[in-house]
Amino acid sequence: MLSLLLLALLARCSGVSVADPSLAEAPLDWWQNITVYQIYPRSYKDSDGDGIGDLKGITSRLEHIKDAGCGALWLSPIYASPMKDFGYDISNQTLIDPIFGNLDDFKALQKKSKELGLKLILDFVPDYSSDQHIWFKKSVKKIDPYTDYYVWHDGKIDNATGKRTPPNNWVSAFKGSAWAWNEERQQYYYHVFTVQQPDLNYRNKHLVEDMKDVLRYWLRLGVDGFRVDSIPHLFEDTRFLDEPLTHTPGLQPTDYDYTEHVFTQNLPETYDMVHQFRRVLDEFRAADNHTRLMMTEAYANISQMMGYYGTDEKPGAHFTFNFLPIMHLSRSSTAQNFSDVIFEWLDNVPKGRWSNWVFGNHDQPRVASRFGSDLADGINTLLTLLPGTAISYMGEELAMTNTFLTWNQTVDPQGLNAGPQNYSSFSRDPERTPFQWDNSTSAGFSSNPRTWLPVNPNYKTLNLAAEAAAPTSHYKVYQQLNQLRRSRTVQRGSLTVRVVSEWVLAFTRELAGEDTVLAAVNLGPSESTVDLTQHFSGLPQMATVATASVNSGLRRGDKSSPASLKLKGKATVVLTSGQVSGSS
Ligand code: GLC
Ligand code: MG
Repeated sequence: MLSLLLLALLARCSGVSVADPSLAEAPLDWWQNITVYQIYPRSYKDSDGDGIGDLKGITSRLEHIKDAGCGALWLSPIYASPMKDFGYDISNQTLIDPIFGNLDDFKALQKKSKELGLKLILDFVPDYSSDQHIWFKKSVKKIDPYTDYYVWHDGKIDNATGKRTPPNNWVSAFKGSAWAWNEERQQYYYHVFTVQQPDLNYRNKHLVEDMKDVLRYWLRLGVDGFRVDSIPHLFEDTRFLDEPLTHTPGLQPTDYDYTEHVFTQNLPETYDMVHQFRRVLDEFRAADNHTRLMMTEAYANISQMMGYYGTDEKPGAHFTFNFLPIMHLSRSSTAQNFSDVIFEWLDNVPKGRWSNWVFGNHDQPRVASRFGSDLADGINTLLTLLPGTAISYMGEELAMTNTFLTWNQTVDPQGLNAGPQNYSSFSRDPERTPFQWDNSTSAGFSSNPRTWLPVNPNYKTLNLAAEAAAPTSHYKVYQQLNQLRRSRTVQRGSLTVRVVSEWVLAFTRELAGEDTVLAAVNLGPSESTVDLTQHFSGLPQMATVATASVNSGLRRGDKSSPASLKLKGKATVVLTSGQVSGSS
C-alpha cells in the first residue's frame, strides 16, 4: 500500500502520466480522437442578410470545419427562443427558431455533415425553459400535468412589514434574487439565470419524461450526441433554506458569489439524472452500435466534475468538460501551474474513462485575450496534443480576440444586469461577435453591414482568408496540430510532462514503434534556450519541426536539436522524431 502510494507520488512529481493499460489497446470510438468545433449559430455565417447567423449559413461553410481538421461540430441552441439569453431560453425544444431556419435546413446541414464525415452534436438545455414555453404558461395556470413543472414557492411574510418576500437568499447567476413573483399564480418561481428562464422541476416525473423525449426527438433525426447545459443546477434542496455566505470582501447580496451554493448546485440527485439521460442515449446505441456522445457542462470542484462521469454501474457523461484550464490558468501562470492543472485533471479522471480539454467557449473571454495572442498557438498545442478529446470554440483557430463593445452595444443579459459601470467584466458579447471570414463587408459573415453584434474592427487583417493565404498563421498551426493529432502517437501514446524552468513547459507523447512527439511552450516573455535531453530520455540528436507558433521563427519541416532548443518569448515548438510531409 505504502509503496503504491510512493509510486503514485513519484509519478506525479516527475510528471509522468501512468498510462491506463486498458486504454492503450482498446479500439478508439469516433468521439475520442477528434477535435469538436463549437459553433455559436448566431455568429458563424448569415445566409439571408438579416445580420444574424443561421443554419443555411453554417451549411454553406461546413468545409471550414473539415479543413481546420476537426471531426465534429457542436451547435449552441438553434431552438425556438425569445432570445433573452440568445437561444438558451427555449420556448420549444423540438422546433427550430425561424431566425436559424427550419427543419429542412437542419436536414440539409445534417446531410452535408455526413458527406464531409463530420459528426453533429446539439445543445441540450435541461435546466430551464423560456417563460414563453407552453409548459410555463400552463404551469402558471396550474393546468396538470404542468402545475409542478417549475419550482414554485409562496415566499415568506415579513413579520415587521407584513410584506411578502422571496423564500430565501438564493441569488441568480445573472445577479439579484433568483426568485421572481408571478402575479397570476400568486407565487414565486425560481430562476438561476434570467427572469425569463424559469428553472424546471426535476422532482416531477412527467417533466423528466418530457425532457427525455426531447432527447429522443433529435436522436431519431440522427444526431450524434449532445452537449448538456448547466448540469449543476438541475435540483434544488426542498427545504428552501438560506445558503451560507461566502464572506467574500466587496460582494453585495445581489452577487452570485455572495452565497455558497450548497442548496442549489450539484445535489446528489443530479448525478442520477445525468445517468438517466445517458441511458436514453444508450437506447439508441444499443440499436445500431453507434455511440451517441454526451458531454456535460459543469463549472464545479474536481470531485463534483468527476462525479458527472458516473460510475461503471451508472455511467454519466462520456466526459464532463474539463474547465480547469479556464478556471485556474491565465497569462501569468507558470509552467508549474500548467503542469498542476494538467495532472489535477488526469489524475482524477475515473479509471478507464476518457479525458478532454477546454480552453474557451461562448461564455469565456477569447483565448487570445486571456492568454495573449502570442500564446494562442501554445494553448492550441496543449488543447490538441494532450491526451483526450479537444473542444475548440469557433474563431480560436484564428486567434480571434475579444471585441470591445460599449454599454449601448451590449446585449448579453449577464452584461446588462451588471450595469453600465461593471458590464465589461461580465458581458459575454466580446467573444460572441461574428466569425471573421475575410476582409469584405462584415468580415464576410453577412451581406448586411449591420450585424447583431458588431464585427471586430481587426477583421481587415485578422480573418480566415488572410490566415489561409499567409505562409505562417495561427490557422495553419491549428491545421498542423490537428493533422498531428491523427497520428497513433497522439491518439494513444503515453504522456510525460516536465517543468523545464519557471516558464517553459514541455511534454512528450510516446508510443512503441511510432514517432515521438515533443512539444515545448515558453509561457514567459523572454527568449530561453533549453536542453530537453536533460528532461526526457531517448530523444534524437536532431528532430523535425512538426509545427511551431507564428512567433517562433521556425516552420514545419525545419530541423532543430532538442539539446539546444531556442524558444523565443511566448513561442511554442512541436518536434517529431519522424518525417513531416510538406512544409510551411
Ligand atoms: C449555459 C450557457 C450560457 C447561458 C446559461 C444560462 O451556461 O453556456 O451561455 O447563458 O447556460 O442560460
Ligand atoms: Mg440570418
